[in-house]
Amino acid sequence: MTKKKNEILVIHGPNLHLLGKREPHIYGGFSLTAINNELKKKAAKNKTGIEIIQSNSESEIIDAITSGNYDFLIINPAAYTHTSVAIRDAISAAAKPAIEVHISNIYKREEFRKKSLISDVVIGVISGLGIQSYLLAFDAAMELLKTTKT
Ligand code: DQA
Repeated sequence: MTKKKNEILVIHGPNLHLLGKREPHIYGGFSLTAINNELKKKAAKNKTGIEIIQSNSESEIIDAITSGNYDFLIINPAAYTHTSVAIRDAISAAAKPAIEVHISNIYKREEFRKKSLISDVVIGVISGLGIQSYLLAFDAAMELLKTTKT
């Protein structure tokens, strides 16, 4: 088997397993499987390893982030974006490059969603572009890994 260039870890936070059924006027009609299939296709094209997890549990998300078994993190912390100092600390502690993504534009919604505890411990944030938020994050990760790898 040919060695993969990099390993991307994608984490989908709580309630994202409901995509497609959950408030489609906000989150769109696509399913989590549809996002994951697109990401896997991109990873295969780029000969890059990808691990994708969805969890409703803060502790499972922290364990995955701090495992350190990846080169780049793409994370949609979902509701934990606005509440979890623990996930923020895990990203900081892992010291891996990371992008925060959101399907909806969190700055266009309720006041409590406008505050992210995660944004200043990641390289950047992509919010409001639906499935494209993840796909653009993947492309950015590929470019950023080129410049961070020796
Ligand atoms: C979300 C936005 C969050 O405010 C919300 O709690 C989610 C999904 C998004 O992808 O738009 O669950 O992260």
